[in-house]
Amino acid sequence: TPMPEFVNEPLTDFSRPESRDAMQQAIDEVESQLGEDYPLVIGGRRIDTREMIISRNPADSAQVVGKVASATDDDVLNAIDAARDAFRLWAATEANYRAEYVELIADKMRERRFELAAWMVFECGKPWADADADVAEAIDFCNYYAGHMRTLAEPQQCDVPGEENTYFYKPRGVVAVIAPWNFPLAILTGMTAAAIVAGNTVIMKPAEQSSVIASKLMEIIEDVGIDRGVVNYLPGVGEDIGADLVGSPDIALIAFTGSQEVGLAINEQASVADDRQLSVKRVIAEMGGKNAIIVDEDADLDEAVVGVMHSAFGYSGQKCSACSRAIVHEAAYDDFLQRLVGATESLKIGKPTDPATAVGPVIDEEAQQRILETISEAKEEEIEVALECDLGDLAESGYYVPPTIFCDVDPDSTLAQEEIFGPVLAVIRAADIDEALEIANGTRYALTGGVFSRSPETLKRVRQRFDVGNLYLNRGITGAMVNRQPFGGFRMSGIGSKTGGPDYLQQFLLPVNVTENT
Ligand code: NAD
Ligand code: ALA
Repeated sequence: TPMPEFVNEPLTDFSRPESRDAMQQAIDEVESQLGEDYPLVIGGRRIDTREMIISRNPADSAQVVGKVASATDDDVLNAIDAARDAFRLWAATEANYRAEYVELIADKMRERRFELAAWMVFECGKPWADADADVAEAIDFCNYYAGHMRTLAEPQQCDVPGEENTYFYKPRGVVAVIAPWNFPLAILTGMTAAAIVAGNTVIMKPAEQSSVIASKLMEIIEDVGIDRGVVNYLPGVGEDIGADLVGSPDIALIAFTGSQEVGLAINEQASVADDRQLSVKRVIAEMGGKNAIIVDEDADLDEAVVGVMHSAFGYSGQKCSACSRAIVHEAAYDDFLQRLVGATESLKIGKPTDPATAVGPVIDEEAQQRILETISEAKEEEIEVALECDLGDLAESGYYVPPTIFCDVDPDSTLAQEEIFGPVLAVIRAADIDEALEIANGTRYALTGGVFSRSPETLKRVRQRFDVGNLYLNRGITGAMVNRQPFGGFRMSGIGSKTGGPDYLQQFLLPVNVTENT
């Protein structure tokens, strides 16, 4: 059966005054709601905890966005019980109804679009356009997986004389959804929507840094009338409750997106079966990247500069898809670097509540300190600084890191090998395209990559030889859209099929074949 028609949710055009007014109003409204308490939601019940996670505005750390319950090990067990209890009924609900519920989630998000974006501005320091795109992507995931589930729900018949064969999908059971903070609504919604539309029930464990926005998703799930216990909201500290969640014999699948370190730990832990366990746990782990853009000698440098700059510094470099290495052909190197520095210097760094802001803070103090340390270590190694932007007095109130460009970076240095997840770019020189490709492929990751070139021959070679999950020719390397650019990597960047693509949902299902002798 062909995939159904799919249309992406349009992005908001903030050059229109109506859109700007609507967003400003949402920001004012959300600001008046900051500081509230958010309990756990287990089996439809609200549960307060003694410990709380204090969620702060990264641009203004004195401002508390919300106080979120922090689950204990007992809460984990209770949430898993609730999800297990809800499974039988939900799994038996017709796929078409489940798809309708998930589409209702998308409709509610559309109604609350500016408000949800505003929560991300405050809780995660997302500039307006990034926050808006995050909501649009969440809507897309819901609609895409709902449509795909209807297709997958049609059994496939393969009949021969005397024998009827039916191939169909069943849900797996209880899914632990463990999400990062950097696409706080989109990624959490995507993993959750896929799990439930497929008939599974979910323990939703958001990142500590974005648990308030996650509670808004929980509210929407309850609002559309999905049965209690189908989704359980379990914010908490990953290091504390992660092991109990991942290790539980009642978890069938772990859908994780986050760092390589945690992803590998989860994969290892999930491989250990205990006596009570009824199935081998499946792990989906979408992890980090060390993404590169190659700039050829004949590249359109105006486009290359803008593409690299947005990919490197958009959302302060905190996208798994972000460009952290620019590998530039010797013949274009000086010109490119000079123009890149000029363009980056003029980026407006500021508070994300201000619509003019292009680059905001990083997510929290820990990230700020870690990235600043990376910058000073690179300086100690005498790697040349081409630009370190001026922050003014922003760092006094929030977790800011200056957008920084290092040049003539050794491709084997730590700076050029480890994911930084901040506004730091390494510019690397290459003698020719072959060398550039070798450098580009010379990390353990394989997530996104790009090339700017006018030569069809080069583009052809890069297509064949650049080892990444998402390759972009003559454009930036972030902002994959559901259906158009199914997203995800391989090597140490992840195990799993691309999100927003035709192979994603099957991971949440068990294929069964029934043969009848007739
Ligand atoms: P993280 O790995 O620190 O945390 C992710 C989630 O795991 C959080 O909910 C956290 O609480 C939880 N966690 C932490 N320790 C755990 C444990 N021991 N057991 C179970 N869960 C645990 O990642 P982050 O800082 O939230 O996100 C940034 C990372 O995510 C970057 O590496 C980025 O590249 C990656 N990422 C990848 C993709 C992708 O699609 N490939 C998308 C977004 C982000
Ligand atoms: N899907 C996100 C992007 O492409 C991570 O930027």
